[in-house]
Amino acid sequence: MRTRLTERFGVEFPLFAFSHCRDVVAAVTNAGGFGVLGAVAYSAERLDEELTWIDAQVGGRPYGVDVLVPGKIDAAAAVPGARLPDLIPEAHRDFVDHLFRKYGVGGPGETGVVGAGSPEDAGDVGRRVTHEGATRLIDVALKHPIDLIASALGPPPPEMVERARAAGVPVAALVGTVEHAARQVAAGADIIVAQGTEAGGHTGEVSTMVLVPQVVDAVAPVPVLAAGGIADGRQVAAALALGAEGVWCGSVWLTTDEAETPPAVKRKMLAATSRDTVRSRSRTGKPARQLRSAWTEEWDGAPESPGPLGMPLQLLLAEEAMARVGRAAEAGAPGARELANYFVGQVVGQMNQVKPARQVVYEMIEEYADAVERLRAITDS
Ligand SMILES: Cc1cc2nc3c(=O)[nH]c(=O)nc-3n(C[C@H](O)[C@H](O)[C@H](O)COP(=O)(O)O)c2cc1C
Repeated sequence: MRTRLTERFGVEFPLFAFSHCRDVVAAVTNAGGFGVLGAVAYSAERLDEELTWIDAQVGGRPYGVDVLVPGKIDAAAAVPGARLPDLIPEAHRDFVDHLFRKYGVGGPGETGVVGAGSPEDAGDVGRRVTHEGATRLIDVALKHPIDLIASALGPPPPEMVERARAAGVPVAALVGTVEHAARQVAAGADIIVAQGTEAGGHTGEVSTMVLVPQVVDAVAPVPVLAAGGIADGRQVAAALALGAEGVWCGSVWLTTDEAETPPAVKRKMLAATSRDTVRSRSRTGKPARQLRSAWTEEWDGAPESPGPLGMPLQLLLAEEAMARVGRAAEAGAPGARELANYFVGQVVGQMNQVKPARQVVYEMIEEYADAVERLRAITDS
């Protein structure tokens, strides 16, 4: 099949796979799609290692890197050189300790990152979503033969656009509203990822079905990828019918063999229905869709909750806490299993089986072909 984006990137199928896991990125690229590594999980040094590994796996096939560059962050955290852990109020640390006691989770003094990053990355995770942190990651990314830089949570900063342009690398920007899409194009984005509220991770309030055609019309001729709620080939066909030039998927990779998802969370995802996610500020400080769990319920509903901090302080607090929760959940602690969660979209209800990432891509291509055939039969009858 051919769209402007398959032509531009030389891929067989316009499937862009966002993942924090290098194995997923390489597997999707090698299966004829386009893998995009989420850089926020990594320090600059680790990112360099991950990209060197991907370079060796994909043999020149295209892949990209995604960074989070929030338009707005907590004012105190934005001060250069601020020590982020010192900015977390006592009341918020106390609430986490209270949750640990209530749910019987591990001893004090442990830190770590849930999922892909190493423990030494944990204290640093908050800093990577500041402007200066993202810039360091972009510097590393541009030293590799990447074919796309994507950014989320605000317009790509001018330096990012300039440096990407100088390197001949297109810039994609994620948006959740038609107004933001226009702003991103004005800021220099070459591709818009229109992401509906169904999506896992940071997300707005408008559904993919409603958002995509509006964004396509608003930014034409800039190409649009549809994101949010796409995990099989029928949904790819629907996205292309809405005017998108391809799709951008994040959740569906989380239950693949390769995924970084902690095992206790993977089990929850396999059992979850599409009603088991919630948009909550409790993991990062900004509304992000994730599995509903005791963590989201306590932060968002308990009378003693101090309420989530802003980004990046809530992210820092939650990553450290969730690393400990993850270890306790693996050790079999039932309370930790209640708290455990991770970002995932409403398509979690379709994710009922662990498969290799390659197989997910091949199945989507087949289902897409079937869907198109079905439409053709309807139209011709
Ligand atoms: C676990 C997870 C982490 C995510 N982290 C990021 C991120 O760091 N940067 C980003 O641009 N998007 C992030 N997203 C959003 C994805 O890029 C993508 O837009 C979204 O997953 C698409 O919707 P879907 O989840 O229904 O496939 C994340 C999504 C998930 C599921």
